[in-house]
Amino acid sequence: MTIRITGTGSALPEKIVTNFDLQELVETSDEWIQKRTGIAERRISTGETVSTLAARACERALEMAKKTADEVDLILVATCSPEQLLPCCACQVQDLIGAARAAAFDLNAACSGFLFALNTAYAYLQTGIYRNALIVGSEVLSKLVDWSDRGTCILFGDGAGAAFVEASVGEVLRGNGRKAGMECLFQGSDGAKGAVLSCEERPVANAFLSTAKTGNPYIQMDGQEVYKFATKQVPACIQEALDKAKLAVDDVDWFVLHQANVRIIESVAKRLRADIARFPMNINRVGNMSSATIPVLLDEWNRSGRIKEGDRLVLSGFGAGLTYGASVLVW
Ligand code: COA
Repeated sequence: MTIRITGTGSALPEKIVTNFDLQELVETSDEWIQKRTGIAERRISTGETVSTLAARACERALEMAKKTADEVDLILVATCSPEQLLPCCACQVQDLIGAARAAAFDLNAACSGFLFALNTAYAYLQTGIYRNALIVGSEVLSKLVDWSDRGTCILFGDGAGAAFVEASVGEVLRGNGRKAGMECLFQGSDGAKGAVLSCEERPVANAFLSTAKTGNPYIQMDGQEVYKFATKQVPACIQEALDKAKLAVDDVDWFVLHQANVRIIESVAKRLRADIARFPMNINRVGNMSSATIPVLLDEWNRSGRIKEGDRLVLSGFGAGLTYGASVLVW
């Protein structure tokens, strides 16, 4: 038994913020941002929320999968920027799309969130508990960004992506002889390095504390440490997943990586000795949308027909936690 992605969808806010717009806010330049990150513009919410973006992405994924909302068994939303602590975003999405039968909950593994949600759904579907799931990565990071900090505000964007996954009971053999579905996964975490990329929410405060601690509500990052972590850990975990599946780098058609920085992606390609043309990218238009980057990219490449049936994909996420992982699947 395996699982297959049978529909993808995405939703981005209307407003485009270019590097030139950021030049008006902080001391930076389009040239610096493009050279160091590969980002030219990003989408920023002017009212769209994590749940409304997620719901739109889900509706598109369901439409592609030719399913109705009342057929959905499970909704998993990966987010680190929900509007509300309670109820969780997945329950809001359930209500917005009318998936009354579904169980729904959120999961937070920052930029690895979509990947970890996919792997969680894989476990649920493999054990037969559910037959299908809507997996979502949705973020409105613009509210977590300190817009006076040029070290971070240039990196992030808002958006949502979703995938509909179904249990694949019989074998689905593709034209090239590969069996469609998830083949293997690897995921890891390093909580000891949590401080290199963090965002406080509510420090301890209650009626029994005389002095409440005040926290910094914005994203704080040691960019160089994150860079070092990503360029070392991502190729290592992709290799680990491929080894588990007894596959080689050359057996992979597409490496769909978390879009944090073009230089990180180039470095991963180099370390794996893989052609950079096999690493789809959209970071120049959307920036780093944390958990939403992988599903948005997947949807864009799927809808444009660049991913074909029988293609083997490696999805790999990394980010705050620190968290990292890779999943191998045949489309
Ligand atoms: N515009 C212009 N100059 C900037 C700047 C900006 N937006 N941000 C920082 N600088 C300056 C710094 O102040 C520093 O100046 P100094 O040399 O006078 O002190 C100089 O540029 C170099 O800064 P540094 O932080 O060393 O740059 P870098 O090459 O490490 O690039 C990042 C910074 C953030 C682009 C890079 O570290 C990175 O991409 N890290 C990974 C971040 C990431 O992906 N996070 C999310 C993971 S999920």
